[in-house]
Amino acid sequence: MTTLKVTEPTAYSRILGIGGVRGERVVTNDDIAGPINSSDEWIQQRTGIVTRRRAAADVSLLDMCEQAGRQAIEASGVDPAEIDVVILGTITHMEQTPSAAAIVADRLGLTPAAAYDISAACAGYCYGIGQADALVRAGTAQNVLVIGAERMSDVIDPTDRTISFLLGDGAGAAVVGASDTPGIGPTIWGSDGSLAHLIKQTHSWLTFRDGTDTTWPTLRQEGPTVYKWATFQMAPVALRAIEAAGLQPEDIDVFIPHQANMRIIDQMVKLLHLRDDVIVARDIAETGNTSAASIPLATERLLRENQATGGQIALQIGFGAGVAYAAQVVVLPNKTHTV
Ligand SMILES: CC(C)(COP(=O)(O)OP(=O)(O)OC[C@H]1O[C@@H](n2cnc3c(N)ncnc32)[C@H](O)[C@@H]1OP(=O)(O)O)[C@@H](O)C(=O)NCCC(=O)NCCS
Repeated sequence: MTTLKVTEPTAYSRILGIGGVRGERVVTNDDIAGPINSSDEWIQQRTGIVTRRRAAADVSLLDMCEQAGRQAIEASGVDPAEIDVVILGTITHMEQTPSAAAIVADRLGLTPAAAYDISAACAGYCYGIGQADALVRAGTAQNVLVIGAERMSDVIDPTDRTISFLLGDGAGAAVVGASDTPGIGPTIWGSDGSLAHLIKQTHSWLTFRDGTDTTWPTLRQEGPTVYKWATFQMAPVALRAIEAAGLQPEDIDVFIPHQANMRIIDQMVKLLHLRDDVIVARDIAETGNTSAASIPLATERLLRENQATGGQIALQIGFGAGVAYAAQVVVLPNKTHTV
């Protein structure tokens, strides 16, 4: 009887390096408050956002992905020839095909790496880390470049009060490869399409073809419902990720939730009973909500500013449109890009 050969599994994977780039324009609350009849005070109180970073007109999503990806590869010390998969989480690549991942892989000199985009909104990066971990441990990939990137400016309606004022642009990236010790815990992930209406595009691209609505589609959300879902439904998911990694909440050194709203972050810290001295990512104050980019960007900042160090145990959780979510416990990498 003929027996197939299968890939040789590897015991463990870990994040080897992180990179990140924020949009270069610093947009204040006062800059955007007028068209939504809001104020710096209201936005700071309800969201914790002081500024959000948005890309310059001539900087594309692909440009930011390329820069963040290059930084992560440099920080990881991995030979680019040994990166064989690129996974890109984004909802703002404005061409249905080809994938942004394939173009970014080529720009980074990673061809013929396998490359694909995933559409899991603010959970995109954690979905990608979960897949990278599985691919490396299964022996399907040697090293995986995971990118979370958004140019949310392209889906913003400046007169929309529900979500646009939260949003920023950026790209964060991580290289995942084999490890001698466990570095990425089990991914707890899921979705619930019955709640798809909570955060969504205003209308389909098909309305352009049939002429029923030729205005540019933008994002909308049901803010208060999303707030409750994120706070109360996502804390148990985070706890399951801690348990699946064989840990207790007090073992977590660093908490890196999706940077959706500072109040959601604060509520989750309380609900999870994390240690008093846990380091909490609060990049949202300066960067805003960059959807799939927010977790790697927040990680990059913590490492760059020496608030967190390599080897610490971090809990990360992404959640958003879909509704989709993913959480895992990871060991932070030693190095980050420092320029
Ligand atoms: C969007 C969000 C900041 C709104 O805050 P909120 O406290 O829930 O606000 P509400 O919608 O309940 O409205 C409260 C009041 O503020 C007003 N308001 C709503 N949006 C406003 C805005 N952008 N600026 C100023 N006032 C606003 C409302 O009109 C209402 O006024 P009223 O009390 O006189 O009727 C909040 O719901 C939120 O952050 N939700 C989670 C969103 C999120 O994280 N999404 C991303 C997930 S990936």
